[in-house]
Amino acid sequence: MKRLRLGILISGRGSNLQALIAAAAAPDYPAEIALVLSNRPDAAGLGRATAAGLATAVVDHKRFAERAAFDAEIDRALRTHRVELVCLAGFMRLLTPGFVAAWSDRMINIHPSLLPAFKGLHTHARALAAGVRFAGCTVHFVRPEMDEGPIIVQAAVPVLAGDDEASLAARVLEAEHRCYPQAVRWIAEGRARIVDGRVVIDGAPAPPDGLINPGA
Ligand code: GRF
Repeated sequence: MKRLRLGILISGRGSNLQALIAAAAAPDYPAEIALVLSNRPDAAGLGRATAAGLATAVVDHKRFAERAAFDAEIDRALRTHRVELVCLAGFMRLLTPGFVAAWSDRMINIHPSLLPAFKGLHTHARALAAGVRFAGCTVHFVRPEMDEGPIIVQAAVPVLAGDDEASLAARVLEAEHRCYPQAVRWIAEGRARIVDGRVVIDGAPAPPDGLINPGA
């Protein structure tokens, strides 16, 4: 089986990276991790990558005066490792339009909200403050605007009475760890197509019926 070569970009903890490492360990998973790249030398996720025997690279943004030069260095590393799909997994730098264009439809991101609600940072605190009944996560193709782009998969989780930022974040994170490997699988299998700016997944089953929160 020819496996799709992933380049995973991280800045920190790397729990989504870990979920992808676990998925890719299955012999029938259609993607493999070709490179884990961090902009921060101290990212905990680098340790996870090394422990899994993966190639790693650090491109420290502090060494670059210009964003374009930083992005060019990342691009070089990705091409050196023959990366076919870039997965942003907690990567905390904005990428230049040129870089995004170069990887258009070949770069995805995971965001901890039900986009287009709550783009940007502090999603869980903002969801709690807004009193929404569902939170969740989104995996989407990357476009130049932050947290925008065709949606591949979303998971909704209920916001429960008594939730704080940490408890909600933990519930969403569990959903993230299921969604990201699934989205990568669909792309690697050639089943995720962008049609009129929206993603169609060939042969994806319909989910169970809607939830109501609070329950009756
Ligand atoms: C996740 O919540 C992801 O959705 C967001 O940043 C966080 C990264 O967490 N983009 P981790 O580094 O994967 O643990």
